[in-house]
Amino acid sequence: MEPVRIVEVGPRDGLQNERQLVPTPTKLRLIERLVMAGLRDIEATSFVSPKWVPQMADQAEVMRGLTRHPGISYPVLTPNMKGFDAAMAVGATEVAVFAAASEAFSHRNINCSIAESIDRFRPVFEAAARSGTKVRGYVSCAVACPYDGPTSPEQVAAVAQRLHELGCHEVSLGDTTGEGTPDSVRRMLDAVAAKVPMARLAGHYHDTYGMAVANVHASYQAGMRVFDSSIAGLGGCPYACGSSGNVATEDVVYLLHGLGANTGIDLRALVDCGGWISDVLGRANGSRVGRALLAR
Ligand code: HMG
Ligand code: MG
Repeated sequence: MEPVRIVEVGPRDGLQNERQLVPTPTKLRLIERLVMAGLRDIEATSFVSPKWVPQMADQAEVMRGLTRHPGISYPVLTPNMKGFDAAMAVGATEVAVFAAASEAFSHRNINCSIAESIDRFRPVFEAAARSGTKVRGYVSCAVACPYDGPTSPEQVAAVAQRLHELGCHEVSLGDTTGEGTPDSVRRMLDAVAAKVPMARLAGHYHDTYGMAVANVHASYQAGMRVFDSSIAGLGGCPYACGSSGNVATEDVVYLLHGLGANTGIDLRALVDCGGWISDVLGRANGSRVGRALLAR
């Protein structure tokens, strides 16, 4: 069976937009339940400014409270050296830098241009190389920008290539607004894969327009084998108004298992975890598969 890696971003991308502060023990329980369901890559938190994203203000407590299981990676977002140093101080072993393919989004999200963001990442890459820390990269607005409209696939490819050259082991392509369709995602992937090997790319699709599962399928058919997703479809980006969560992990796993792929994930345990966190947060379960299986 074809192995496919799922990067669970619920505890970070999923929770970062929750209005009510989620208690740290709940975040830790969520991460632990995801591990028990078979996830091997779980983005745990982000080392960004608590003034910008208050929900992530407990980043150090989350990292200190993790039960670290062998073979599990807990990447964290680090937009600059301040974030990287803070992440290292609490034992992070994988970090992620995040750039955008759109200037307007870069300014709104991290308060600098795309070129400036790359300059801020450079010392992060250098320090990561010295400490043997893996660096993942994100390119937001890979299909469209909430402020600038459609993004050209060549611009996405250029930013992805830069991140890859600087040392990202993997570059995750974010359809931040969820506007992508199988065709537009495929055009974007064709452009990016001409610059960065497909084996180094991940799809990070938000589901605002209900297209995310179709986009995962189209990307899988194009040869992509790593997908980011969020338990129960939690989430939404604080700097992309109206954007809903990532594609639900349960829905991606159901799709991939139906395609004969091996994710290593126990769908039933995942669905139970999605039901549990939806109840705890008092929100509707954003996974269609989760709702269907929980109703049985
Ligand atoms: P800035 O204001 O330009 O930074 O923000 P600065 O260097 O001028 O510092 C200003 C203040 O922030 C100072 O504190 C710094 O110490 C502090 P003050 O003196 O005012 O008390 N600061 C920090 N604090 C904690 N951690 C840090 C840090 N850096 C500076 N790392 C900054 C620049 C990047 C910090 C800010 O814009 C920020 O935190 N942005 C957060 C953006 C964010 O988290 N967005 C959501 C994640 S990205 C996403 O969701 C997209 C993705 O899912 C893919 C997709 O879907 O497209 C990845
Ligand atoms: Mg995202």
